[in-house]
Amino acid sequence: MKKYTYIDNKGTFKLTNPERNSYSYFPLANEAGVMSSITPLLNGDCKMGQNTFLLTPVSSEDLHNNKSSRNFWAYIEGKGAWSATGASAMSAAQLFTEEKEATELEAGTMWHKMTRVSNALGIKSEIISFVPACQDTVELMKITITNISDKQMVISPTAAIPLYARSADNLRDHRHVTSLLHRIKTTDYSVLINPTLTFDERGHKKNTMIYGVGGAEANGEKPIGYFPIVEEYIGEGGSFEAPEAIMCQKQPQVLAGASLEGYEALGGIVFENATLGAMEAKSYLVVMGFSDNEAKFEEMAKKYLSESAFNQKLEETKLYWNKKINISYTTSDKQFDNWMYWVNFQPMLRRIYGCSFLPHHDYGKGGRGWRDLWQDCLALLAMDPSGVRSMLLDNFGGVRFDGTNATIIGTKQGEFIADRNNITRVWMDHGAWPFLTTNLYIQQSGDIKFLLEKQSYFKDLQVERGAAKDELWSLSEGNYLQEKNKVAYQGTIIEHLLVQHLTAFYDVGEHNNLKLHGADWNDGLDMADERGESVAFSALYAGNMLEIAQLLRVLKEKEHQDKIMLAEELQLLIKGDAVLYEAVDKKRTILDIYCKKVRHTVTGKQVEVAIDTLITDLEAKANWMIKHIRSQEWITNKAGYSWYNGYYDNHGQRVEGDHEKGTRMMLTGQVFTIMNQIATNEQVAEIIKAADRYLYDEAVGGYKLNTNFNEVKTDLGRMFGFAYGHKENGAVFCHMATMYANALYQRGFVKEGFKVVDTLYKHCSSFEKSRIYPGVPEYINDKGRGMYHYLTGTASWLMLTVITEMFGVKGRLGDLHFEPQLLLEQFDKEDQASIQLTFADRKLQVIYHNQNKKQASEYVVANISIDNKPYDKKHATIKREDIEALDASTQHIIDIVLE
Ligand code: G1P
Repeated sequence: MKKYTYIDNKGTFKLTNPERNSYSYFPLANEAGVMSSITPLLNGDCKMGQNTFLLTPVSSEDLHNNKSSRNFWAYIEGKGAWSATGASAMSAAQLFTEEKEATELEAGTMWHKMTRVSNALGIKSEIISFVPACQDTVELMKITITNISDKQMVISPTAAIPLYARSADNLRDHRHVTSLLHRIKTTDYSVLINPTLTFDERGHKKNTMIYGVGGAEANGEKPIGYFPIVEEYIGEGGSFEAPEAIMCQKQPQVLAGASLEGYEALGGIVFENATLGAMEAKSYLVVMGFSDNEAKFEEMAKKYLSESAFNQKLEETKLYWNKKINISYTTSDKQFDNWMYWVNFQPMLRRIYGCSFLPHHDYGKGGRGWRDLWQDCLALLAMDPSGVRSMLLDNFGGVRFDGTNATIIGTKQGEFIADRNNITRVWMDHGAWPFLTTNLYIQQSGDIKFLLEKQSYFKDLQVERGAAKDELWSLSEGNYLQEKNKVAYQGTIIEHLLVQHLTAFYDVGEHNNLKLHGADWNDGLDMADERGESVAFSALYAGNMLEIAQLLRVLKEKEHQDKIMLAEELQLLIKGDAVLYEAVDKKRTILDIYCKKVRHTVTGKQVEVAIDTLITDLEAKANWMIKHIRSQEWITNKAGYSWYNGYYDNHGQRVEGDHEKGTRMMLTGQVFTIMNQIATNEQVAEIIKAADRYLYDEAVGGYKLNTNFNEVKTDLGRMFGFAYGHKENGAVFCHMATMYANALYQRGFVKEGFKVVDTLYKHCSSFEKSRIYPGVPEYINDKGRGMYHYLTGTASWLMLTVITEMFGVKGRLGDLHFEPQLLLEQFDKEDQASIQLTFADRKLQVIYHNQNKKQASEYVVANISIDNKPYDKKHATIKREDIEALDASTQHIIDIVLE
């Protein structure tokens, strides 16, 4: 199989015979909420949410099973029917033969172009699909048919877009009955459906959504008729891949102005016959979309039923996304630089699709998880920091006063929805992520005062960290914590962070590590709610507490403040000593008293706490945890390898180490002990050896999440029910692998960190192995195939790792600091490596010069200049005020000489 090639430095790629690869899909979407997926045969779907699918919802297996794809037929007089998309019984039959039509995909951000050539029939199609970057809720298609024979050709063109037009729930729940709701209309250009009612999880309701498909010739000429009903189009015994209407050239009986009811619908749009001379081409436009009103749909569709409008919008869309992706990299490996362009784009896709709505992500019904909400912000901070402050502030409104948080996240910023389903699941890692994002924000911006901003707390019936229900609470009280007098209680952001970390500190299991609860980052560790413990995330909480203490120091120095106001209840948690820390039962009792106190309301009384007291307390607690993990969880197996045990199961047994069924090692516990300075330098070196021995497999892209436990370990999690080498059970799970790279870079293990990123990148980019378009997938399975492409938290972490660790461009309390860790091989022929990015609202290109060809461990920043003017190189940092003094309208060059 041929690999794809990049044709520019903006990630645009070409791939021949893309349909000789299964499970491929490509995202087309916009910020107005249109979310499509498209395959090389133009299969896939298009929707605005779980209850509004224009095209039939597809899961990954439907990509080859489903015939209900976007299609465009040209019946060639004297020769027969030809599908311009290749979705025909005839094309399918040729796929593995010499007669296979030549195909090529070209694609860039939010646009997709397929070219198909039938030499036998002397015809060629080019189909461009895209979703315009604007508020229009449409997906657009331009189909160009060229007569590549040397004789004149007459074609009858028909667009055939099967219209599902309802909720995904109805796919196997009243599929037929819901077609009876359809009210179908034809107009001068379109087929419109306005279902009378919706039958879905929301109950039976009056429908307000109009779905439609419009079509015109490139010169604006109207269609000559329609096939709006599926069964009349396919004919008795026919199918979408061999429809009677096309095969037998039936004349359309339905003209503009018709109304029909109660059948499965089709955007079957018939155009006038066209006579094409040799090498002559003709184009057609198709608009598929959504609206709440027929006239509006018509207006929106008409806008794009002109070739010039289509072309112009396509260019605008390309520019729009290119402008948004405002970070780029230049290294010795152009392929890596282009691949990273797609990685940069992925967080934008996740913001639109959430964790749902692409074919592998068929479990999601929209929305995002708490963890994803915070981690996606990491990428935003790097690309578009405007608005992040208010987003962070709003997101803190999801924290409960017991340190847990809302898990159902609404569509509007800061909207969290109460748990009405009695799901009391608590993910123990959730409390740790907001700090990482907040800290990055403060380091990038210097906005330490953000810690003093006020925000309310989330309230629903879940209390006591998922252990109980508050019968006194009802939705009518609102989703915010109240003081006794019904007033919303507000506390500072630093208070929210303290609530999250201090409650976690006391929430320990029998080995005095933090309890696993419903799971941690690894959603598949969900069967050890009673006795499970996550050492891995205990490490992250400990590291965070040390960093929070550091920020408090900054707050004290910069804001000349030595006290802060905290809810009086919190005082219960700000005390203790090593004797208490060792006592599991006492810790649990304190937590219990606290949780009961804040169960329904808080007093609203705040007390002054000295910042020094807080710093001492946080550091004592964190240092105790670090010591505890170091002394209790460092394990060495019989083969002489050492690493950190990351978990305890529901029998209270340590999970990792030697086992009769094979060595048990997990990556997560290594990542967070390394990242949070728990592993000493010597231990990091040992961990690397163990990970290379037990987890590394170059054939699947690097470091796997765990070894094969050879057991369906029902006392730890459902992940062990998955086949080994898949998803959370031992796949290369790119998110954790990337965090491993990040941790290694943070500790200065540069070659080792690079190896993680490089193996992953090389595997993903080897199309013949990963079989995915450019970008990073959620995981790589045991056959090496990239799975769950595009929507993954990996992208944010990979960007962060490349920017702040590999290129070492870091915010430091608002200043810009340089600590490059690029390997010699990453510098190009001119001994340079550069990154373009925005910092403090200024466009910068940072160019590292490594003329002496030194390795990462050998060079230091020797010289800095801005726009050719030497800058004081002290501490390899440029002061924020000096960046802010630069003109905001142009790009500035920062040359950095490494010696
Ligand atoms: C997905 C989920 C993420 C979870 C992870 C591991 O990862 O979105 O919340 O932590 O699985 O179970 P992602 O694909 O986002 O990297």
